[in-house]
Amino acid sequence: MLAVAGVVFLGAVAMLVVGWVRRDRPGLPFFGENEKLNTGLVVLFGMAIPIVILVALFVVSDLVLLNETDAPAASSTAMTITVIGHQWFWQVRYEGEDAETANEVHIPVRTPINLVVRSADVIHSFWVPELNRKIDTIPGQANSIELYAERAGVYRGQCSEFCGLQHAHMAFRVYAEPRPRFEAWLANIRKPAREPTTPLARQGQRAFMRDGCAACHTIAGTEAEGTIGPNLTHLATRQTLAADTIPNTPEDLFRWIQNPQSIKPGVKMPGLGLGPERFHAIVAYLMGLK
Ligand code: CUA
Repeated sequence: MLAVAGVVFLGAVAMLVVGWVRRDRPGLPFFGENEKLNTGLVVLFGMAIPIVILVALFVVSDLVLLNETDAPAASSTAMTITVIGHQWFWQVRYEGEDAETANEVHIPVRTPINLVVRSADVIHSFWVPELNRKIDTIPGQANSIELYAERAGVYRGQCSEFCGLQHAHMAFRVYAEPRPRFEAWLANIRKPAREPTTPLARQGQRAFMRDGCAACHTIAGTEAEGTIGPNLTHLATRQTLAADTIPNTPEDLFRWIQNPQSIKPGVKMPGLGLGPERFHAIVAYLMGLK
């Protein structure tokens, strides 16, 4: 696609340059003012050649490449992962596994995954450039694509359809792992949240449930069943916060929940104004959710 577009682009630029160099002279180079010939050239370069090139590119891209990068056939699919775009994070569900996470997708390496994308609000676009083409998340519709990693590693993804103020901070990660490591990760994600083990973390859990957090977030196994924000059941196992905007450290988590708007202006999470002590306790609780 790039090579063909490059040739067409250079040809058009070359003609522009010739036109500019000969701007004071009438007619075409070599052909002079023969009107029939001039019309013929316009038909050739303006219509015939573009039609041939566009039809050829359509056949290659839509009929061949799109088929090859589509979601795998149902029989060959090891698993289905549903990713739901929200302003501005990614909800990630492992179908049939009762496992949910956010912004960090783990997949087994060398396994074709049927990735289904949906939207909770506006159009987003799920894109991991190293793994496949983009796929739009469209309200009221499910789209699917294959997600396949040949080599283990961390692949960065990015929302690639403008979706509001924090579109740029709607990134995510795909961790492609050897099968046993992936299975161990999934087994942990399936479990309900760990109970707090220190007095500070217990205090944080109480604050989380009472002071507003639970209205928007789910922590499996607790009374927190909100669905507006990301699922936090195993938050401490994630490397990043706020859709790959900041690292997931106690300091950054504190900054994030204390004043979300300072990190992602426009984000739907409010700063609850609970005071530093209660925020520290909540951080202690969340950091125990391994
Ligand atoms: Cu979501 Cu851009």
